[in-house]
Amino acid sequence: MSKILVTGGAGYIGSHTSLALLQAGFEVVVLDNLSNSSAEALRRVAQITGRAPSFVQADVRDGAMLKEVFAQHPIDTVLHFAGLKAVGESVAQPLRYVDNNVHGSQVLLQAMADAGVFKLVFSSSATVYGEPAQMPIAESCPVGRPTNPYGRSKLMVEDMLRDLAAADQRWRMAILRYFNPVGAHETGLLGEDPRGTPNNLVPYMAQVVVGRLPELAVYGNDYPTADGTGVRDYIHVVDLAEGHLRALQALHFRSGAHVWNLGTGQGYSVLDMIRAFEVASGRPVPYRIAPRRPGDIAICYADPTKARLELDWVARRGLPEMMSDTWRWQHMNPAGYG
Ligand code: NAD
Ligand code: UFG
Repeated sequence: MSKILVTGGAGYIGSHTSLALLQAGFEVVVLDNLSNSSAEALRRVAQITGRAPSFVQADVRDGAMLKEVFAQHPIDTVLHFAGLKAVGESVAQPLRYVDNNVHGSQVLLQAMADAGVFKLVFSSSATVYGEPAQMPIAESCPVGRPTNPYGRSKLMVEDMLRDLAAADQRWRMAILRYFNPVGAHETGLLGEDPRGTPNNLVPYMAQVVVGRLPELAVYGNDYPTADGTGVRDYIHVVDLAEGHLRALQALHFRSGAHVWNLGTGQGYSVLDMIRAFEVASGRPVPYRIAPRRPGDIAICYADPTKARLELDWVARRGLPEMMSDTWRWQHMNPAGYG
């Protein structure tokens, strides 16, 4: 039986997607260097599904190792999550982001081509739209200039994939542009466990509520939005994982490189998120208004129509479920995977 290689499969989105793949009956090989994750996540995946993915602790930039993995397993598709994702860190260490995200993807693509594997699902980001000209954002919107090196690394890989698909018709690629992934598996066993102080709103807020951090800084309340705080399209990570399964199916009958937004189409402000988390946790979220964070945009939410029509996929989980699942995960694992 053919297998799916999941790079970065021990990470936040990769672990939830590996779980969904195993539950759907696929054979999964995870390749991860554990630079931003823990093997414990994979043990939890096995605990929930009753099936363990094969695990290779390796770097995606290691072409010789990839060659071995493709030789050992009958892989026919790669889901490529492996990469660095911290915006601020990318500003300080731009070459590291080019090396890990762009060069890492190049090495992987070469190893795939050498092994005759031409089906790929790539984790891109709404950040490639830059400062969007219209809202909601459809895939037909021109990609903008991302505001940081992380975003530019995603756009570079997207361009590389489009060039490759144009050069060789055997490639079948899904470029998935995620909006803001949040939430956790409903069991509370799998969730987001950022190293160090979280950069993103929801994990930060969750750590404030369990007492790991004193208070949340709300970055600006003078944006042109209903309450002045930034608006984003938060999407439950399990919905996102299901989007990958639909993209896999779509690649059976589509060649070339295709882009799909994975978002809900619904925007929530920072204050909406605080209120929803207070309801879910039954606890207050101490916060203060702080200056805007450089590089942030006011509003960003998806037009998810293309994924609905072409993948038959919609995000089904609403904000209360995103927040109660986040809370269950954080409450059950106050120190993450430990
Ligand atoms: P994550 O850090 O939890 O997962 C990434 C995984 O890749 C980690 O397990 C890490 O150890 C591994 N990894 C990193 N570099 C590697 C390398 N060179 N070789 C092997 N493994 C490596 O992040 P995530 O939130 O699960 O994100 C997954 C993907 O989705 C990333 O490509 C990210 O850029 C993209 N993305 C994430 C978000 C988000 O907000 N979480 C939004 C849009 C896109
Ligand atoms: N925010 C706060 N306080 C915090 C953290 C965030 O007020 O401590 C606000 C931000 O200003 C923004 C909103 O909460 O208005 C969401 O911020 P996040 O950092 O959670 O998410 P971003 O939309 O800034 O960034 C996310 C991913 C990036 C990706 C981008 C675009 O983290 O990787 O979406 O897709 F590039």
